[in-house]
Amino acid sequence: MNVLGIETSCDETGVAVYDSAHGLKSHVLHSQVALHAEYGGVVPEIASRDHLRRLLPLIRRVLDDAGIERPDAIAHTAGPGLVGALMVGGGMAAGLGMAWDCPVVAVHHMEGHLLAPLLEDEPPEYPFLALLVSGGHSMLIDVRGLGQYELMGTTLDDAVGEAFDKTAKLLDLGYPGGPALAALAAGGVDTAFEFPRPMHGKPGYDFSFSGLKTAVMLEVRKAEADGSLESKRADIAASFQRAAVDALIGRALKAAADRGLDRIVVAGGVGANKLLRADIARRFDGRVYYPRLEFCTDNGAMIAVAGALRLAEAGPVDAIRATARWSLESLSAP
Ligand code: KG4
Ligand code: ZN
Repeated sequence: MNVLGIETSCDETGVAVYDSAHGLKSHVLHSQVALHAEYGGVVPEIASRDHLRRLLPLIRRVLDDAGIERPDAIAHTAGPGLVGALMVGGGMAAGLGMAWDCPVVAVHHMEGHLLAPLLEDEPPEYPFLALLVSGGHSMLIDVRGLGQYELMGTTLDDAVGEAFDKTAKLLDLGYPGGPALAALAAGGVDTAFEFPRPMHGKPGYDFSFSGLKTAVMLEVRKAEADGSLESKRADIAASFQRAAVDALIGRALKAAADRGLDRIVVAGGVGANKLLRADIARRFDGRVYYPRLEFCTDNGAMIAVAGALRLAEAGPVDAIRATARWSLESLSAP
């Protein structure tokens, strides 16, 4: 069965065709980064309009690339995300579903991220621990099966991607900050500054990144004041990245050990971070799974695969909706 996946929750228009028997057939992504760059962040109205402009031509293209006239089902991101942007994808999915007389499935964006490693050749089996790290979320989830998600920990303040983005802004790296900060960090010394490891030694599995963000800000202000910022930028970036990654890995390893899980899935935009990928694999006794880099950040393929699984096990659910806030734990097993 061919499932067309549509992702429009934020600033990427992602479209893909996933065949439940043969895997991913085609996918394309249009990034709006250039559109939002001059504003230093995503402007919701601009995002919605651009999704509207791009979607149909991109859908035409993935269907052509997959060699099919029409899919057997459509999956669209229904939340969480920017409501206007979600409505563009949801409205398009509903209209096409009616025209093609095929089922429409509403997919939870974070479930899409969580299931993205299933697009790879050696997908993880259940159960596993998921470290879901993106621009809006930092979560540790005990995953027992499709829809069986126990949230073990979440961020008490900023999401880790947000911390990367804000630190990047402080260092004048523009938007989106994560990849640029990681690139700058590659040329720096990560022991140059002793930034706090958020929540280190505290019980539980929650994250907190505001203390780290403040520590970086104070260091940047100090360097600005004494004129040494230029020479310290790379070291600050590297030391921040090290502290953030250590915090994520420390929590994840503890959660996996406490639950006796020997598989960890790392997914979401920050899952593209090379230091995180390398270090967690090195420090964890079990096996670590992640999507290929392009499927860590937002994309249509993860929505198509999540939709295909949900459809196979439960049939179409909540077909049309656009929800800004939607907890992953409220999803149920099919
Ligand atoms: O999953 P995603 O594309 O969108 C959301 O659902 O939020 O994640 C985007 C986030 C941004 O905060 C971005 O800066 C961060 O992921 N990111 C990275 C890297 N690539 C993207 N953070 C650190 N290192 C990277 N290489
Ligand atoms: Zn995302």
